[in-house]
Amino acid sequence: MLTAQDVRMAFYPSLGLGAELTKFWSKGKKDSGVLAVRGVSLTARAGEILGLVGESGSGKSTLGRLMGGIYKPIQGRILFQGRDLNSFDFKERRNFNKKVQFMFQDPASSLNPRQTAMEALAEGLIIHRLGSRTERHLKIERLLEEVGLSPQMSSRYPHQFSGGQRQRLCLARALSLDPMVLIADEPASALDVSIQAQIINLLLDLKVKRGLTVVLISHDLALVCLMADRLAVMYGGLIMEIFPRSLFGQVEHHPYVKALLASAETSLTDDLILEGEPPDPQNPPLGCPFHPRCPEFIERCRQSAPALCQTQNSRWVACYLRS
Ligand SMILES: Nc1ncnc2c1ncn2[C@@H]1O[C@H](COP(=O)(O)OP(=O)(O)O)[C@@H](O)[C@H]1O
Ligand SMILES: [Mg+2]
Repeated sequence: MLTAQDVRMAFYPSLGLGAELTKFWSKGKKDSGVLAVRGVSLTARAGEILGLVGESGSGKSTLGRLMGGIYKPIQGRILFQGRDLNSFDFKERRNFNKKVQFMFQDPASSLNPRQTAMEALAEGLIIHRLGSRTERHLKIERLLEEVGLSPQMSSRYPHQFSGGQRQRLCLARALSLDPMVLIADEPASALDVSIQAQIINLLLDLKVKRGLTVVLISHDLALVCLMADRLAVMYGGLIMEIFPRSLFGQVEHHPYVKALLASAETSLTDDLILEGEPPDPQNPPLGCPFHPRCPEFIERCRQSAPALCQTQNSRWVACYLRS
C-alpha cells in the first residue's frame, strides 16, 4: 500500500541546504553529501506492522520521512496505493497527508505548549473541514478514550500530562483524521520501560481495531520483535534483511542481524557488542556497508554491495553468504 522504490536521499549540511533543495543541487554534482538512504525498496502492506530496525544513523528516520512524503527522494519514488506521490495533484496530496500520519519520539516537542488537548486534536479536523464544532468535540472525546485518556482531560495543557500521556495525546492527534498508515518513529524510546509497553500495546490494539498499517521505527530489535509482523533491518542506509516475525531466530540471519540478536540476548543495555563503528554516511565503504565489522566477510564483500535477494517465501537478504 505504501511503497518505496529504490529511494535515495542525501543531505548537504555544510551548504545549509534543506531537504527540498538537495534534489536540485545533487544533479550532476560530484559531492554526494551525507547519503542517509542509499537505494532502498520496501513496502508497508495494508494492515501490517512493519518494523524498521537498525542502529542510530542507519537511515531509519530518513526512510520513514521519505515514505510519509516529508522528504522528496533524490532518486526513486514513493507509491501510495500504487500511485507515485510525484503525480499527485493538490487534492490527492491533501488526501495523502490525511491518510498518512506521523508520531515522533519526543511528545513534548511535537505538541504546542499553549494549546489544550482539545485544541491540538481539533486542529487537523478544522484544517480538513471535518464536522461541525459539536461533532468535532464528540469525536475528540472518543479519540481520547480510544488512547486511554479521559475526556475530562481535554482542557489540559501538555505540561499537565505525564510523558506517557503526552505520547497518547500525540497518538490521538495522529488518529484524528482516520489515517490508513501511521509512521511511528521511536514512539516509546523517550519513555520508561513500563510506559513503553503500554504505548506498544496501544499500537497493537489499534492495528487490530482500526486495521491500521503501522511503520514502526526503532533501534530496539527486541521491542520491534514483540509486535511487528515483518521486520526490515537497516545498516548504513541500506536494507540488510527483511523477514516475517515467524522466522525470527529460526533461520541463518544476515551477519548484522545475528550480531543485533546476540547483543539483545547477552546485554541488558542497548549497547552493541559489535566491534568498530557504523559507516560514515559521508564516505561509506565500498562494497557491503557492514563488511568492515562483519565476522564472516569474504573478499567479494569489499568489492561490491550484495543486492537484496529473496531466499525463501517473504524473506530477503543482502549477503553473499546467505543467498
Ligand atoms: N536533516 C538532516 N540534515 C543532515 N543530515 C541528516 C539529516 N537527517 C539525517 N541526517 C544524517 O543521515 C544519516 C541517517 O540519519 P537518520 O535517518 O536520522 O538515521 P536513524 O533514524 O536510523 O538514526 C545520519 O548520518 C544523519 O546524521
Ligand atoms: Mg531516527
